[in-house]
Amino acid sequence: MPSALAFELVAKCSTTKARASVLRLPHGPIETPIFMPVATQAALKGLTPEQLEAAGCRLCLNNTYHLGLKPGQAVLEAVGGAHKLQGWRHNILTDSGGFQMVSLLELATVTENGVEFLSPHDGTPMLLTPEHSIDLQHSIGSDIIMQLDDVIATTSPDEARMRDAMYRSIRWLDRCIAEHLKPHPSSSSSPTETYAHRQNLFCIIQGGLDLSLRTECCEEMVKRDTPGIAIGGLSGGEEKEKYCAVVNHCTNLLPEGKPRYVMGVGYPEDLIVSVALGADMFDCVWGTRTARFGNAITSRGVLKLRNAQYANDFSPVDPDCKCPVCAPGMGITKAFIHHLAAKETAGAHMLTLHNVSYLLNLMNEARKAVVRDEYPKFLRETFGKWYQGDK
Ligand code: GUN
Ligand code: ZN
Repeated sequence: MPSALAFELVAKCSTTKARASVLRLPHGPIETPIFMPVATQAALKGLTPEQLEAAGCRLCLNNTYHLGLKPGQAVLEAVGGAHKLQGWRHNILTDSGGFQMVSLLELATVTENGVEFLSPHDGTPMLLTPEHSIDLQHSIGSDIIMQLDDVIATTSPDEARMRDAMYRSIRWLDRCIAEHLKPHPSSSSSPTETYAHRQNLFCIIQGGLDLSLRTECCEEMVKRDTPGIAIGGLSGGEEKEKYCAVVNHCTNLLPEGKPRYVMGVGYPEDLIVSVALGADMFDCVWGTRTARFGNAITSRGVLKLRNAQYANDFSPVDPDCKCPVCAPGMGITKAFIHHLAAKETAGAHMLTLHNVSYLLNLMNEARKAVVRDEYPKFLRETFGKWYQGDK
């Protein structure tokens, strides 16, 4: 199918499956491996688009489900898409909505036609079909759009439901592709131009922890030739070994020349291990959410800055970090954040900025290590610092 991206491998690790690439998207190139911060409602809680840009972010996430409800498709069309809505000059990836609905709403039910749910605003019954999700993502204008998929928690014991969800995700991918191949309305001069020439649809591999289901799903979805490929249904509390087995298994079956996105992954350990397993792109709300609980992700591990031990700690949040919060000239200390954490929102904003900067930078360092062909050394050193002593 047509695509609106170019993926160029820059380096490959000689001992692990880690890779470094340049991914050229409609709003500029990005370098992988990459962590994508989640701006659910078209805003990263506590940060301005300018701060996010200054932190080095060039690709962030929005959610179709949230933007479809508010501001809604008519406003998105009127303003000219989510980039304009949020004043963001760089790339946006949108998740398709089904996962958010099923994980956020108890009353969502999945049928072959789509995901049925009650509007959280007024309780009216609504239906998100694969076609409608893609149509919404067209109005949003995101650079990468995701197929609607049927997601079951990996910890679910219902094997039959897991199998059905995998096959349904393939059928829904076909419906998403058909919708995405419709002519773009402003393509009158070149009648063959479709939405797929402007936005990149990624498929999402499902199949839980069952490697044979994953094989079948990879084979079917790779045939559909989408510009990028996601591995979904993970990071739902499964054992790390099983998580790694699935990622490793899928990346073995995926084409080398396309970006690979593991959805919902954002713990620093999982990021750098998943890079070693051949994954390129990640997103997660954890880093920004945990900031709002007073937790700093640092080169020495996660620090709970609300703890009393930080009341008199006048050192920077992370001495190895170059973000504006940790910059020596600023004089912002752990004690200051500890003091603010109880009530003042500025503490949460500063930690959000630091945590996002940390995760973006972690992936930059991973990339440099791949380019130097020193990825295993990078893994050892980074884990060594995180787990140093008893912290
Ligand atoms: N976010 C985290 N995991 C998933 C998944 O499996 N599918 C979708 N659509 N979004 C996700
Ligand atoms: Zn910092």
